[in-house]
Amino acid sequence: MHLHHDTIVILDFGSQYTQLIARRIREFHVFSVILPAQSSTQDILKHAPKGIIFSGGPASVNQTHAPKLDSHIFKLGIPILGICYGMQLIAHHCKGTVTPTPKREFGRADLQVDDTDDLFKGIKTKKPFPVWMSHGDSVQKIPKGFQIIASTEHAPIAAIKQSNSSQQLFGIQFHPEVVHTQHGSTILKNFACHICHCQPTWTMGSFINQAITDIRKTVGQGKVMCALSGGVDSTVAAVLVHRAIGSQLSCLFINNGLMRKDEVAQLQTAFDASYDMPVRIADHSSTFITALGRTTNPERKRKIIGRHFIKVFEYEAAAIGTVNFLVQGTLYPDVIESLSVNGLSSTIKTHHNVGGLPKRMKFKLIEPFRELFKDEVRQLGLELGLPESIVWRQPFPGPGLAIRILGAVTSERLALLRDADAIVREEIEQAGLSRSIWQFFAVLLPIQTVGVMGDKRTYEFVIAIRAVTSTDGMTADWAEIPHPILAIMSKRIINEVHGVNRVVYDISSKPPATIEWE
Ligand code: XMP
Repeated sequence: MHLHHDTIVILDFGSQYTQLIARRIREFHVFSVILPAQSSTQDILKHAPKGIIFSGGPASVNQTHAPKLDSHIFKLGIPILGICYGMQLIAHHCKGTVTPTPKREFGRADLQVDDTDDLFKGIKTKKPFPVWMSHGDSVQKIPKGFQIIASTEHAPIAAIKQSNSSQQLFGIQFHPEVVHTQHGSTILKNFACHICHCQPTWTMGSFINQAITDIRKTVGQGKVMCALSGGVDSTVAAVLVHRAIGSQLSCLFINNGLMRKDEVAQLQTAFDASYDMPVRIADHSSTFITALGRTTNPERKRKIIGRHFIKVFEYEAAAIGTVNFLVQGTLYPDVIESLSVNGLSSTIKTHHNVGGLPKRMKFKLIEPFRELFKDEVRQLGLELGLPESIVWRQPFPGPGLAIRILGAVTSERLALLRDADAIVREEIEQAGLSRSIWQFFAVLLPIQTVGVMGDKRTYEFVIAIRAVTSTDGMTADWAEIPHPILAIMSKRIINEVHGVNRVVYDISSKPPATIEWE
């Protein structure tokens, strides 16, 4: 699909940083794709790469089961950059020696480079600069025809290149993709733009134009439906598809009654105001609450909500009439994961959105973001004119407030939690902390504790404030919100939300706690 853009192929050897390499390269408008390490040269060539990067990985080239690659890759004449394990693989293949490092090196090291080399072009400093190392093996003897182009105190062979050959090979022991490596982006850019001669043409604007053309071609005269969840991915997808095919798209939002305060109305306003994109908001809030009944078990709650969603979805979809395609906001990391590209570095996926597709419904899928990362979808959303409140919406679980009310879910409890949660959000936003905190919300603990208000004794519920910092939701630390802000939240919640006389702050990190309480 992107053959008219210059592409760098990244072969994944199981580094936790592989996706980061891809994102860094895209930052300077060169397209990048991640393929499994074992991909055949044929599969690699389908992407017409101008350059190939071997990622790092946890293995050692001297192990019998070390991940290998199709050795024809060294005959393609396409420049290769090996990072960490990737460098060792190049050295090993070209008959150099790779041995365990006497002292394993993790963390910062100071790199002295040969600044006349193309890979280090534009790095002005003559002095060593900090890079990020993470390896147990290193190249002991460089292969014939190679030269050393950088070193550190403990790694005299920190970067190598093959100097006199038709195929340029580079190896670097450090990780240019992580922020701790100074000039890391310059090094990747030098590889992509100076060594591989990629043109920086892959922009969000070009992506939008291409996507619109593709969507029109795929859909023809067909009818398309998009189920909105209120989240950034489905919303941006709907707006993009709407731009491509206008009224052939029908958008459906199912209000499950478990959204936060004013959220449904805000969504409606955003759609009405900005896009002239009709969204049918189907209010099923009371039926979800009825379906939940007195259920208290968290997993049962999730199942009930998931099943009820499918029922309601089928009913509403039938009302729209014949639909040929369904829009989904699937992202690149999901695609990579399902292709098990990241065999060794795959992340644990614990939750599925309740918005998942009913299996028996046969639609063809339109997934315009299959090649995009989350931050690129946000950028795209801004480019399409979406408000920041949608583009920067914090992750919100499909089962919504039902898993933030411990125990049974009732309308009264929902109303109470909504008010308390709105105060938490307002105060965090007011304090300018909303971008630095991954998720922040209130949890209702429907246990009663004693308090005193005026001269009366009270016996009311507890609100827990949960706020965490994280980069992916897999691990998280409790956020160190300044005490005065916690104080304001507590005071406001107790004064303004009837039925609450105590506020506590959750100081548990994940693991072993989870972000949500249920
Ligand atoms: P936990 O609580 O497991 O949450 O640390 C990790 C991330 O997943 C979100 N989450 C869910 N998302 N359906 C979802 O769509 C769910 O059932 C669900 N449970 C948790 C949570 O908000 C956090 O971002």
